Amino acid sequence: MDRREFVEGCALGAGSLAATLAGHAWAADARPRAYDRVLLVDELGKPLKATSLRVQTNYVFHYPFEATPVFLLDLGKPAVATPLVTREKQPYQWPGGVGPGRSLVAFSAICAHKLVYPTKDLSFISFRKGAAVNPQTPSKGSDLIHCCADHSQYDPARGARVLGGPAEQPLCAVLLEHDPKTDQLTATATLGGELFDDFFKKYEMKLSLEVGPNARQAVARQSTVRELDRFCRNPVRC
Ligand code: FES
Repeated sequence: MDRREFVEGCALGAGSLAATLAGHAWAADARPRAYDRVLLVDELGKPLKATSLRVQTNYVFHYPFEATPVFLLDLGKPAVATPLVTREKQPYQWPGGVGPGRSLVAFSAICAHKLVYPTKDLSFISFRKGAAVNPQTPSKGSDLIHCCADHSQYDPARGARVLGGPAEQPLCAVLLEHDPKTDQLTATATLGGELFDDFFKKYEMKLSLEVGPNARQAVARQSTVRELDRFCRNPVRC
């Protein structure tokens, strides 16, 4: 099962995951999947300070694999714990944001509909500040993650639940740990409906060209955070 370790909700006391989950009241059916603990660093390789993030700005890092992108956002408002359900009807409790304002969140940037994701050349999916605009469904909120491919919309302040479009489940959450002493961020696990197997199957050839032979290698030790506009040459706005 690659390098990941499935951790059942009833056995969350073990190892590093216990530290990750400290302070969160997990539902009995929550099933975070622990991967390597990965420190988020800036483009110079220095530990990223959470307070250096610009509010409501798209940042990207890769986790848990070298080729799987993740959005990191400071929403500028608290993101509260939210009960959610996967496409396979598995319930889980997203724990909310971390950091002093509980505003820091991270979600897989692989759209839960047809797996569109940001590359260095093009991105159809991103966070949009302000009122949602969806040509296919009435707008239901603001400050959403929007996928221009088929207009799925996700609410990052509520665990990336689906607010519009054809996606059948929330974006998979990446669990973060914020150290109040150092202001550093560490990615520790995923929670929700993972689509990594489908992703690697669908884009096997493309990823081997984009990322090389290590596309499916687990990220180890640290992952670089970049603004989406620096990571991607053509972030599409729709
Ligand atoms: S791939 Fe994102 S909405 Fe279809």
